[in-house]
Amino acid sequence: MKLSRRILGIKPSATFAVDAKAKELRGQGKNVISFGSGEPDFDSPPAVLEYASEAMERGETHYTPTSGIAMLREEISAYYKQRFGLDYSPSQVVVGSGAKPLIFEALAAIVDPGDEVIVLAPTWVSYIEQIKLVDGKVVVVPTQDSNFVPQIQRIEEAITDKTVAILLNSPSNPTGMMYDEQTIKAIGQLVIKYDLWLIWDEIYERLVYGEVKHYNPVQLLPELASRTVIINGVSKAYAMTGWRIGYALSPLELAKKINAYQSHLTSGPCSISQWAALGAIKESESDVCRMLSTFKKRRDLICSLLGEMPHISFLVPKGAFYVFVNIKECFGKSYEGQVIDNDITFCNILLEAELVAVIPGSAFLAPEYLRLSYASSEDEIREGMKRLKRFLEKIK
Ligand SMILES: Cc1ncc(COP(=O)(O)O)c(C=O)c1O
Repeated sequence: MKLSRRILGIKPSATFAVDAKAKELRGQGKNVISFGSGEPDFDSPPAVLEYASEAMERGETHYTPTSGIAMLREEISAYYKQRFGLDYSPSQVVVGSGAKPLIFEALAAIVDPGDEVIVLAPTWVSYIEQIKLVDGKVVVVPTQDSNFVPQIQRIEEAITDKTVAILLNSPSNPTGMMYDEQTIKAIGQLVIKYDLWLIWDEIYERLVYGEVKHYNPVQLLPELASRTVIINGVSKAYAMTGWRIGYALSPLELAKKINAYQSHLTSGPCSISQWAALGAIKESESDVCRMLSTFKKRRDLICSLLGEMPHISFLVPKGAFYVFVNIKECFGKSYEGQVIDNDITFCNILLEAELVAVIPGSAFLAPEYLRLSYASSEDEIREGMKRLKRFLEKIK
């Protein structure tokens, strides 16, 4: 069977794989607690459901403009004006079937075969595979040894005449860290100096716990507007992962290209979901605040429980809903006779022994870590952490 070199080089999403395994074990009647999933466990807000069902009743069940319905693009443009003081016209907004395909479409519009895209490790799983899917070369700049704070000099050293873009995510999946004003400006200046694109994924910008402020790079350096693609969406802030709506804001020329790509790929996102997203952005502010305060309680809970455990260390996340836990100290030790030689064995033994599912750090190019999502109930967090502690205490 002939398969393309491109697809042979692609790994399926590790986060979805862990989730599928946890679901399979649950299906066999096992009481698995999963910290794998990157999705809020809340219901989508009432306005989302109302707007969707009204849209269905009105018969909004046909193709929409490929870049999204005008009202939603206008609302997104107003949201960016109000939240960041940025002027993006609705024609610079492309709505897609989730943020994920928009990152891909932006890469496809920017990257030629062999072009290099810089990412900072730990990095989100799909960036790597998407860059490979457009035949680009992934250039990784590590941040593990600097508390996940990017070192500007290292980024500059990684830039070559093949570099076309830097792809960043803040608040970060998987670390929960956020880039400060100075770092964002310094990276922005490199983008300008070397004539690059900045792909700025701020899908978690509403999930910030107040200790540090979230900044948008174009807000900090307006000259970046002509070379930045902002990626955002409703999946995380409004608990709408299944509706599949994301959006990109970019210079008009690029927005047209992203839209052209999308017109041949999906023909635009689901019509009903677009109306649902309009209900989210227009009328669900109080729901966002309610979910945020619950996430903050969960973050504080999981961090205080992790703080009591042996062999691990972590930085308290400032945003998103993940804790990135360093397990290096466990390597070379054993759990009931089974040697833990890397993050993957750690996760497999933990799942088998205590029915706790977590994502190995190697999925994010950081093999000395685990990612725990705390988008689950306080009861599940307590029970899961009890099991993780019991597991760690047996590691000798
Ligand atoms: C950093 C990051 N960007 C983008 C996405 C994709 O979001 P969507 O569900 O809107 O495609 C995710 C989802 O996990 C994410 O973690």
